[in-house]
Amino acid sequence: MTPRLPAAEVAPHVLVWGAPPGCAPSPMLLLSLLLSLAPSGLRGEETRQVYLEVPGWPDRPQNLLHIRAVGPNSTLHYVWGSLGPPAVVLVATNTPHSVLRIDWTRLLSPEPEGGLAVLPKDSIQFSSALIFTRLLEFDGSDSAEPPGKPYAPYPLDEFSWNNITDSLHPATLSATFRGYPKHDPAGAFANGSLAFRVQAFDRAGRPTRPPRLLHTADTCQLEVALAGASPRGNHSLFGIEVATLGQGPGCPVIQEQRSIDDEYSPAVFQLDQLLWGSPPSGFVQWRPVVFSHEQADRGSALSCRASPLHPTLARALPRSSVVRAFFGPQQSYCTFNLTFGASTGPGYWDQHYLSWSLLLGVGPPPVDALSPLILGIMAVALGTPGLLLLGSGLALLLRRKPPSEYRSIT
Ligand SMILES: *[C@@H]1O[C@H](CO)[C@@H](O)[C@H](O)[C@H]1NC(C)=O
Ligand SMILES: *[C@@H]1O[C@H](CO)[C@@H](O)[C@H](O)[C@H]1NC(C)=O
Ligand SMILES: *[C@@H]1O[C@H](CO)[C@@H](O)[C@H](O)[C@H]1NC(C)=O
Ligand SMILES: *[C@@H]1O[C@H](CO)[C@@H](O)[C@H](O)[C@H]1NC(C)=O
Ligand SMILES: *[C@@H]1O[C@H](CO)[C@@H](O)[C@H](O)[C@H]1NC(C)=O
Repeated sequence: MTPRLPAAEVAPHVLVWGAPPGCAPSPMLLLSLLLSLAPSGLRGEETRQVYLEVPGWPDRPQNLLHIRAVGPNSTLHYVWGSLGPPAVVLVATNTPHSVLRIDWTRLLSPEPEGGLAVLPKDSIQFSSALIFTRLLEFDGSDSAEPPGKPYAPYPLDEFSWNNITDSLHPATLSATFRGYPKHDPAGAFANGSLAFRVQAFDRAGRPTRPPRLLHTADTCQLEVALAGASPRGNHSLFGIEVATLGQGPGCPVIQEQRSIDDEYSPAVFQLDQLLWGSPPSGFVQWRPVVFSHEQADRGSALSCRASPLHPTLARALPRSSVVRAFFGPQQSYCTFNLTFGASTGPGYWDQHYLSWSLLLGVGPPPVDALSPLILGIMAVALGTPGLLLLGSGLALLLRRKPPSEYRSIT
């Protein structure tokens, strides 16, 4: 009923915007303050009823996925769509009864404003969007200026996307948007595709596939995979351009958080996080790692670099009908580039495969706690000298007594 992340998991995040030194309230107090101020749509739920709906319109490819995650006092709506470039609109409401309304004639028209709405309007506590605008490719052999000279990007609104009904898996709450360029004179995607696999969750957990991001019932995961496409150079580096809505005058920033080299994501010491406004609002989280093999093992892990966000005019970006339909003709967007891998070491050229994952959600972002294994190792590491000290102290105190009953301590 009350918020559900164990305090230890949220505390490091809360401290990011804690009080000035000298009057620091305890993380627990901050946390409860934070949560009592948070609108109820953003407080998070431990479990949700998750519904995957593919609203359709006759004779149109089915490329809209509505994830409705219902909790006792709130509903989250994630509307993924590939009308234009792949995009998601996320909306948090403070009622279990909010609904998505689609006006298809508007949505499919050149002016889609008003084509999507979440009702009742006054139940909306938070909304934002992400758009995956372009697939980038760089000539990585020109290492003077990483990531290298850019090739012409692939605008993702000029891709043709599959009918997602075929990839809808209600059991895993997932679906995949798979696309390739409509015009591909060089045949680069003759055997290839770019896939966006979306997965929702009805409770907290961690997938088995690396990078094993910790999720909650308030989040969705996206895995972007480029497979089988022919690169334009021998050392092509790929990347993706991502756009989000501008908020006020500036752009959100990407925070880099240190994290422990944990058993869940070996050798990745960082968690990148984009926050839309002061928490708890909405967030995007990812580990700066991509995999160049479908097995996503340690040997195929490549680094992933994010540029800072830059304000970008709407007309410089491929148009997303889904985002315009909900938000109207927004003028200000912010974009950033993610580039995958480096010009040396393993890369896309090995297997013609790359995958990268992110987590998208509302409310306080999940924060990794130490895993039981690491806690065990720490207990042993810290515990042994402590036990030795205690043992010798006891031995001194009790020297004259028969030590038998204390022997087991040391
Ligand atoms: C949900 O709403 C009910 C009734 O208004 C209230 O008693 C309960 O505390 C709320 N739960 C949460 C988690 O806010
Ligand atoms: C999409 O796929 C489903 C299931 O295979 C099918 O019923 C539907 O007619 C398809 N829609 C279109 C527009 O091709
Ligand atoms: C696509 O695959 C076929 C059969 O495996 C192969 O003959 C062809 O050369 C490939 N095309 C490209 C562009 O890689
Ligand atoms: C790619 O490699 C081939 C064979 O190693 C070489 O002939 C070709 O010039 C290289 N192309 C580029 C663009 O470096
Ligand atoms: C992303 O990369 C493209 C291609 O190099 C470039 O035109 C664009 O300015 C970059 N955007 C950002 C935000 O760095």
